[in-house]
Amino acid sequence: MAITLISGGTVVSAIGRREADVLIDGESIAAILAPGHAAAYGITPDEVIDAAGKYVVPGGVDAHVHMSLPFGGTVSADDFDTGSRAAAWGGVTTIIDFASQTVGLDVRETLAARHEEANGECHVDYAFHQIIGDVNETSLEAMTHLVEHEGVTSFKMFMAYPGVFYSDDGKILQAMQNASESGALMMMHAENGIAIDVLVAQSLARGDTDPKYHSYTRPEELESEATHRAIKLARVAGNVPLYIVHMSASEALEEVSRAQHMGLNVFAETCPQYLYLSIEDHLAQPGFEGAKWVCSTPLRSKHEHHSRDLWKGLRMNELAVVSTDHCPFCMKDQKELGIGDFSKIPNGMGGVEHRMELIYQGVVMGEMTLERWVETCCTTPARMFGLEKKGVLEPGADADVLVWDPNAKTKIGIDDKHHMAMDHSSYEGFEVDGKVDTVISRGRVVVANDTYVGAKGHGKFVKRSLNQYIH
Ligand code: URP
Ligand code: ZN
Ligand code: ZN
Repeated sequence: MAITLISGGTVVSAIGRREADVLIDGESIAAILAPGHAAAYGITPDEVIDAAGKYVVPGGVDAHVHMSLPFGGTVSADDFDTGSRAAAWGGVTTIIDFASQTVGLDVRETLAARHEEANGECHVDYAFHQIIGDVNETSLEAMTHLVEHEGVTSFKMFMAYPGVFYSDDGKILQAMQNASESGALMMMHAENGIAIDVLVAQSLARGDTDPKYHSYTRPEELESEATHRAIKLARVAGNVPLYIVHMSASEALEEVSRAQHMGLNVFAETCPQYLYLSIEDHLAQPGFEGAKWVCSTPLRSKHEHHSRDLWKGLRMNELAVVSTDHCPFCMKDQKELGIGDFSKIPNGMGGVEHRMELIYQGVVMGEMTLERWVETCCTTPARMFGLEKKGVLEPGADADVLVWDPNAKTKIGIDDKHHMAMDHSSYEGFEVDGKVDTVISRGRVVVANDTYVGAKGHGKFVKRSLNQYIH
C-alpha cells in the first residue's frame, strides 16, 4: 500500500481550516497531522505532494448528473467514461447518476442495465439514484428492495415532462409513502408539467418558437406551485425526507424555507447555471444560440432577484447542496433538433467539470465562506445521500482529495479548460479565480500538473446508506 503525504497546505473542512498535513495509506486517509510532524512519527512516505500556499479539501461530490441519458430524441453527450473523466478534471471524485424507470419498465431491470453501462467505465467513484416513472405494485416492492439490498436509497420523481417521466400526485404520494416506510429520500423535479404543456402549445401556435420561450413557458409560479405541492404530499406521506432538485426561482425557495421553518424534512439544491446565467445574457441570444442554455428548470431573468436569493439560500442553508444536473447536448445534431420549435430542444447543459471552480468564485465574490464551499459541494451531498466515506478528510474516509490553488486562475471555454464531450461550453469565456491543482481518487492521483493521469475503470460503484440528517 503506497503512503502519500500532502504537506504544507491549509486543510479546509465544512467547519474550519487549519495548517495540516494529510497522510494517505492506500485508498484511505490515515491521519491529519500537525505540519511537518510525519518524520517525528517515523513515517516515510512513498510520495509527497507539496500543497504549500494551497487549500486541501475533500474531493467534490456531484449528486446530480446524467451520463448517456436518453432524452428528447437523443442521448446526453457524455458517457460514463468521458463524463467521469471530466468530473475528475473538475476536482469531483464522486458522481451520483440515475437509473431510469419509465412507463412499462421494471425498476430492478433498469438498475441492472445502468450498472452494465457504468461498470468498468468510470474514472471516479459513482452511485445511483433511481428514477421512478411508473408507480405500481412491482415498482413499489422494488423501491424497498433497492434501499435494503442495492445501496440505492433515493428516488427521483417528476412533476414535469408528461408522457416521459411525469407522475401524477396520486402516484407520487404512493411512492413517498413507500419511502417513508423504508427510510429513503425522495427527490423531486418540481415543475407543473401539465400547465407548462398548455403554455408551450400556445406559444408555438403564436409563432413564438425561439429558445427563450422555453423559459417564458415555464414561469416561476409553476416551479413554486409544484414545490409547494411536493412539500404537502411529503408531509401527508409521513414527513418523508424530500429533496427538491435544480431549484432556480425565488418563490420556490420561499416554499422550501417556509417548510423548513415548520420543521419539515425538506432539502433543496441549486446549480451553477442558476447562479451565473440568465435569460437575457444566454437563453435569449440571437438566432438559435440560446439553445445551448435550454434546461429545466429554466434560466431566469437577471432583472429579477433569483440568483441573489439563491446565493442567500446557500449561505443560510435553505439550499443545502450545489450539484450540476450535468446533462450535456451538442449543438450539432442534438440541440439542433429544436430549430424552429424550442420544445424539441433536448433539455440540459454540461457543467460537471466546473462546479468547484464556479462556486469557489462565490467565495471570492463574498457570497459564501471557504468552509461553506466545502460544505455545499463536498460534505453535505455526501451526508445527504449516505456516502459515508466521502466528503470529509478524516481518518478512515476514502482518500478523495482536491488540492486547490487559490492563486491561479481558470479560463473556461472550448479552447481553454474543457474536457466534456460537448461542442460548446455553457460557461464560455468565464475566467474565475482558483484552479484545480491535484486530484486524488481513493488514493490514486488522477490529475496533476495540468495532466490527466487517471484511468477508466478506477471508479467503483458505491453503495449508499440512508440520508444522514434524518437517520
Ligand atoms: O434540463 C435538464 N435538467 N435535463 C436533465 C433532466 C432533468 O430534468 O434533470
Ligand atoms: Zn429534473
Ligand atoms: Zn437532472
